[in-house]
Amino acid sequence: MNALDAKVALVTGGGSGLGREIVERFVAQGARVGVLERDSAKAENLSAGLGSAVAVTVGDVRSARDNEAAVARTVDAFGPLDVFIGNAGVWDFGASLVDIPIDTLGCAFDDLYGINVKGYLLGARAAVDALRSSRGVMIFTLSNAAFLPGGGGPLYTSSKHAIVGLIRQLAYELEGQVRVNGVAPGLMPTDLRGLPSLGQDAVSLGDLIGEQLDGAGTAGVRSAGDYVMGYVLLASSGARVTNGAIFEMHGMLSAPARQPVPPVADVPAHG
Ligand SMILES: NC(=O)c1ccc[n+]([C@@H]2O[C@H](COP(=O)([O-])OP(=O)(O)OC[C@H]3O[C@@H](n4cnc5c(N)ncnc54)[C@H](O)[C@@H]3O)[C@@H](O)[C@H]2O)c1
Repeated sequence: MNALDAKVALVTGGGSGLGREIVERFVAQGARVGVLERDSAKAENLSAGLGSAVAVTVGDVRSARDNEAAVARTVDAFGPLDVFIGNAGVWDFGASLVDIPIDTLGCAFDDLYGINVKGYLLGARAAVDALRSSRGVMIFTLSNAAFLPGGGGPLYTSSKHAIVGLIRQLAYELEGQVRVNGVAPGLMPTDLRGLPSLGQDAVSLGDLIGEQLDGAGTAGVRSAGDYVMGYVLLASSGARVTNGAIFEMHGMLSAPARQPVPPVADVPAHG
């Protein structure tokens, strides 16, 4: 018997990195999984790799309609929804307040908060009725940056702190109906992208730290697979009384040492 036998889950940003690991582990643990993914090539790759165990919707977490479509497709394909995982995110490559011209800051905020915060809120809203019917669970991906400075710039760090509040509020509002919890991973080499408004969208975190990893080997470096058991546990009936909890799996007891932020691109001015 597997931990997630007969469970039906929906994962946003399941096309690569942590989301893809979650999808694969959930399927291996007996679940069937819907995915909302913006990148059509990643979506195709996922469907090709996992076949009928996944139902992929190509769409954007910033769109209410796309979130609703992903919930409907998952339920059509697999039946009542048990688990919603808000996971799709972007980073700011640690761009500091003084690095971002004031005329660009509003666009950069919209780029990052639109995905990292609004995307989670819309996903939760689209899934909540189905989850109330099944007495299901929401799980949100946070970060060490939800608790500590230095894991991003002020945009990313504040967005992940915002999700701590979202989890607490939703756990309170939905108590007894839907469990609402989070997992906070730490650094992992993935395809995590930056912000178009900061000229960062062409590079990924994995590209940036890949050279260091290649040079130093992988000792001590975590991978997405190191974090997925937190999601499996929170989604399983073993956590049926766990509500409003956040698993800090990043393993950091203090903020990371201050490091120079590699220049990603010249920051273009926005009106
Ligand atoms: N990589 C790290 O070091 C790290 C550390 C802590 C937390 N996280 C968090 O983990 C989560 C997953 O990131 P990852 O590192 O696996 O990166 P990733 O880029 O590999 O995965 C994110 C996925 O989300 C998709 N996506 C991005 N914007 C989208 C949108 N608007 N609509 C739909 N899909 C969209 C991407 O195409 C991608 O498949 C994020 O919330 C991130 O903040 C990452």
